[in-house]
Amino acid sequence: MSVRRLHTEQPDSFAFTAENLTWAEGQIRKYPQGRKSSAVIPLLWRAQEQHGWLTEPAIRTVAEMLDMAPIRVLEVATFYTMYNLKPVGKHYVQVCGNISCMLRGSDELMQACEREIGPRDTINEDLDMSWTEVECAGACTNAPVVAIGDDYIEDLTGEKLAEIIGKIARGEAVKPGPQNGRHSSEPEGGATSLLNEEAIFEAWKAFSPKMPNEKAAEPELLADKHEELELIADAHDEPELLEDDHVEPVLLAEAPEGGADNLKLIKGVGPKLEGILHELGVYTFAQVAEWTPENVAWVDGRLKFKGRIARDGWIDQCKLLASGQETEFSKRTKKGDA
Ligand code: FES
Repeated sequence: MSVRRLHTEQPDSFAFTAENLTWAEGQIRKYPQGRKSSAVIPLLWRAQEQHGWLTEPAIRTVAEMLDMAPIRVLEVATFYTMYNLKPVGKHYVQVCGNISCMLRGSDELMQACEREIGPRDTINEDLDMSWTEVECAGACTNAPVVAIGDDYIEDLTGEKLAEIIGKIARGEAVKPGPQNGRHSSEPEGGATSLLNEEAIFEAWKAFSPKMPNEKAAEPELLADKHEELELIADAHDEPELLEDDHVEPVLLAEAPEGGADNLKLIKGVGPKLEGILHELGVYTFAQVAEWTPENVAWVDGRLKFKGRIARDGWIDQCKLLASGQETEFSKRTKKGDA
C-alpha cells in the first residue's frame, strides 16, 4: 500500500468554478446546522474532479467552507485512496492489492502495469496514463480488480490487463466488469447452492417473515406457498410409515368423463402440485377422500415436501369437496382471495 502524502509541488490557490460553487453550497445545505462537515467527502471529490487531483489549497478551501480545521480535512483526504494527492494520467489505473485481490493475482496485474505503463505513481506522458495500488476496491467477489476512471474491470489476469491497457492506448473501448465470462459475481462454473426448488423455498421461508409485501412481490409463487411453508417445520416430528407399508391408491389412467376436479381448491395444492397429482393418476376429490394412511404414505413419497397431505388435511377437505360442500379455503379460492 502506498504512503499517502501531499504532492511536493502545489499550486498557489484553489477556487471552485461558479458552477461547482453553487453545487457545493447545495450539498452543504443538505445537512443540519452545525453538521456542515458531513459534506466533506463530496466537496473534496468535486474539487478533485475540477482540478484533476486534490491539491493542498483545495483541501484548505474545503476546510474553510465547512468550518473545519484543515487537519481534519487532510485526514479524510489522506485516508481514502479515491483522492489523488498528486497528478495522475488521464487514464488512471487503480490496482487493488488487498487480501482477496492479492490471493487472486494482483501482483501479476501490478507487474503488467509496470511493463505497459511504467513505474507506479508516475505518469507515462506518451499514453497519458498512470497507475497506483489501492485497497480495497470493494469488489472482492470479482478479484482481482482494477478501476480505470469510473469503470471497474474485474476477474483479470496480467495478460488480460496488458491487452486492456493496449486498447486504451489505441483509443479503443474497453468493456467494464468481469473479463472471464462471468456476468456479475455469480459463482464461476455455475450455481453451487439453492439448486432445487425445495432449497429455494426453505431459504425464502427463513427470510420471509422479514419481507414486507411478499404477496405483491411474487404473487403466483408465494401467495399459495406461504401457508404451506409455515407448516413444514411442524411436520418433521410426524411418524412415517416404512416403505414396505406404502400402498398405491386407486389411480386413473386419465381424467374421468366430465373432467377432472379442480384440485387447486384443496388447501396446499397449487398448479404445480396439481400437475404432479395428475401425472400420478389423481384427478378427483373422491379419490383423495378414500385414501388410507398407507395410500397417503405412497403419495407423500412422490411429492416434494413430505407430510403435506396430513398437515393440510387433504382427506377431510376432499370428503367435503367430493360431497359438493365447500371448505373455507375453496370459498376463498373461488372468490380469488387465496
Ligand atoms: S480485495 Fe480487492 S476488491 Fe476487495
